[in-house]
Amino acid sequence: MTKPVTILGIESSCDDTAAAVVRGNAHDARVVSNVVFGQTEAHAAFGGVVPEIAARAHAEKIDRAVEDALNQANITLDQIDAIAVTAGPGLVGGVLAGVMCAKGLSLAKGLPLIGVNHLAGHALTPQLTDQIEFPYLMLLVSGGHCQFLLVESHDTYTRLGGTIDDAPGEAFDKTARILGLPQPGGPAVETAALHGNERAFALPRPLLHRDDCNMSFSGLKTAVLRARDDIIAEHSGLPTGIRSDLCASFQAALRDVLIAKTRKAMVAARAKAPAITALAVAGGVAANGSIRTGLEALCAEIDTKFVAPPLSLCTDNAAMIAFVGLLKFEHGQVDDMSLSARPRWPLDQTSPTLLGSGKKGAKA
Ligand code: KG4
Ligand code: ZN
Repeated sequence: MTKPVTILGIESSCDDTAAAVVRGNAHDARVVSNVVFGQTEAHAAFGGVVPEIAARAHAEKIDRAVEDALNQANITLDQIDAIAVTAGPGLVGGVLAGVMCAKGLSLAKGLPLIGVNHLAGHALTPQLTDQIEFPYLMLLVSGGHCQFLLVESHDTYTRLGGTIDDAPGEAFDKTARILGLPQPGGPAVETAALHGNERAFALPRPLLHRDDCNMSFSGLKTAVLRARDDIIAEHSGLPTGIRSDLCASFQAALRDVLIAKTRKAMVAARAKAPAITALAVAGGVAANGSIRTGLEALCAEIDTKFVAPPLSLCTDNAAMIAFVGLLKFEHGQVDDMSLSARPRWPLDQTSPTLLGSGKKGAKA
């Protein structure tokens, strides 16, 4: 068994400034501290993440996040073996803030510097939390990302499909805005949906008929907008009960697409890697009870293990970055001062670009 090491992780690719300490080896690693400073309030007035505001907030908070992570772990930089930092993909101002901080610490202390792909952080979290073996299928569903990844090693990924427009969290957030519900939209829409009838509105389930694993959610949001306008015209307002029905119908449409496409992605993954051990999910949308239950039921039906890491490690955090840093460190994959911030950095370098930039930056 490889000797345990202690890694400091730094994450600042979107709207969370985070630092964490992870200790152990590839098969037995422990999150010693995990600090996240969110920026929801700073962006609240703008209906989305403003890159310049995000970059400034990261630059202001990043030292504090590192300090808190070290204090909570009860260690100093002298006890750290290497520094891992998100080097992309994401909003370039934020990524730069993290990379510059990591370079400064690395130079000052003579510590190895490791650039980490943010998506690898999400994709490898199930190994940190549940020690699942390669290969497995990962469904990444958040406000900025949506893709199916076949994960075969810490640096071998195949993207089997993803959204061609909005990410699911983005669709939840936009739906909430259309229906006058607060941000973040996911929890607000889910709560409203609890009281609604998911068969009340027949909303589209885009690309369902197609055999591939790609998805589209922007038409669904437009359908919600049209339905809302029809309700307002008929009732001179948006009655709470009908709004709940619309939320439930929206959530059901999105869930049905995710589940149907996960079924297809599992077939595609097994065709490439028959020994698939599990379906794992990550990202804020994985918190949704209806989607989680649907995925669990699918896994029971196709006799596959289902892994959903705890929410604090599903959403953006630096522990996942430290863990990927640990794996790269074990493999001798260390960077130097030429490490640069990459706004776009697909995990699967061979797959064609699916998307442009979303409200939270590059999505694939
Ligand atoms: O992974 P995350 O914290 O950040 C990034 O997008 O990187 O995901 C946030 C997204 C938001 O769009 C939020 O509305 C959505 O996850 N979300 C949910 C739920 N909780 C958070 N969506 C659906 N149902 C939920 N319960
Ligand atoms: Zn993320």
